[in-house]
Amino acid sequence: MSNAVASPFLLACRRQPTSVTPIWLMRQAGRYMPEYRAMRARHRFLELCKNPQAAAEVTLQPVERLGVDAAILFADILLVLEPLGVGLEFVEGEGPRIHRPLRSAADVAALPTVDVGEAVGAVFETVKLARKALAERVPLIGFAGAPFTLASYLIEGGPSREFLLTKRFMRAERRAWEALMSRLSIIVGEYLNGQIAAGAQAVQLFDSWVGTLSPSDYREFVQPWSRESIRRLTPGTPVIHFGVGTAGLLPSMKEAGGDVLGLDWRVELGPAWDRLGHDIAVQGNLDPAVLLSNVGAIRRATQSILDGAKGRPGHIFNLGHGVHQETPVENVKALVDIVHELSSR
Ligand code: CP3
Repeated sequence: MSNAVASPFLLACRRQPTSVTPIWLMRQAGRYMPEYRAMRARHRFLELCKNPQAAAEVTLQPVERLGVDAAILFADILLVLEPLGVGLEFVEGEGPRIHRPLRSAADVAALPTVDVGEAVGAVFETVKLARKALAERVPLIGFAGAPFTLASYLIEGGPSREFLLTKRFMRAERRAWEALMSRLSIIVGEYLNGQIAAGAQAVQLFDSWVGTLSPSDYREFVQPWSRESIRRLTPGTPVIHFGVGTAGLLPSMKEAGGDVLGLDWRVELGPAWDRLGHDIAVQGNLDPAVLLSNVGAIRRATQSILDGAKGRPGHIFNLGHGVHQETPVENVKALVDIVHELSSR
């Protein structure tokens, strides 16, 4: 048996006991890491994502530097939108831009059909190379954006605080919204199944911005398509379902599907897990800002999260959102060691 199958991360996804609480970190490969910055000095972000050799190398950087219990594919949730012809660009120092955002039903109707396999073949190649390079050291996580979060970028055209255009579109262009969400759930399913076929051993569905919605809007305008994306996935691969600011949405996100629910730091892990029920695994939930402080503070905050989990099978330690770029690498390394030390059983 490959040791990846018995890895603490994959066991915890299935709520089986582990000798330590597994840890990996969202954005564990990124600008806080000198070896990532060295790679970025040679490639623009989008180029890096489409260069399987380089992207596989970046995927492995945090495994080597930090000793995390899983690798996450280096890519981006927005890559799959590029073949829709909406003009995707990553502006240096600013973030993603969609130059031709969707603002009307006609814009949605005019979207071309895409062959996901052809469009993001480079990402699938990265998965193959990374899996081979990991050689059973730790499992590889694939990922995609969930339909709502992808739709919000397509409609807003970039990052947003209030998501007003998206919220308007949902109601004012209801038919077009449903058509768009349905298209995205198919694309997400194909994107993740392609990663699974290429060797991803678990997948995370990022519904990062869904916390902007009321619970009833989530259930009406989002849940059916998140559920559909998850329903389309090749059975047997654990699914992590994650969003930010989701305290009021967690029961509805659980209903939509996934083996593991991602929690951010605005909820207390222990009580949140009790309310959800222990028939689902949880991932989280250290405030990434804690990593900007010092080892003593990191240790206390970590202990408090582990206390909340009570050593119950099915807890994967992570941050509540991605590593900030200002974070000292040695603090991230200290966190990984502290989680392993304090959770050793
Ligand atoms: O987690 C990892 O280490 C794997 C790689 C990964 C990236 N993006 C690399 C990246 C993952 C899993 C993502 C997911 C992603 N991308 C999400 C969901 C997660 C989240 O943060 O909520 C979202 C919303 C995006 C879209 C996106 N990509 C934004 C908003 C930005 C700009 C923000 C920023 O930090 O600059 C990106 C760019 C991006 N994606 C970077 C990285 C390492 C920074 C780009 C750079 O190197 O300049």
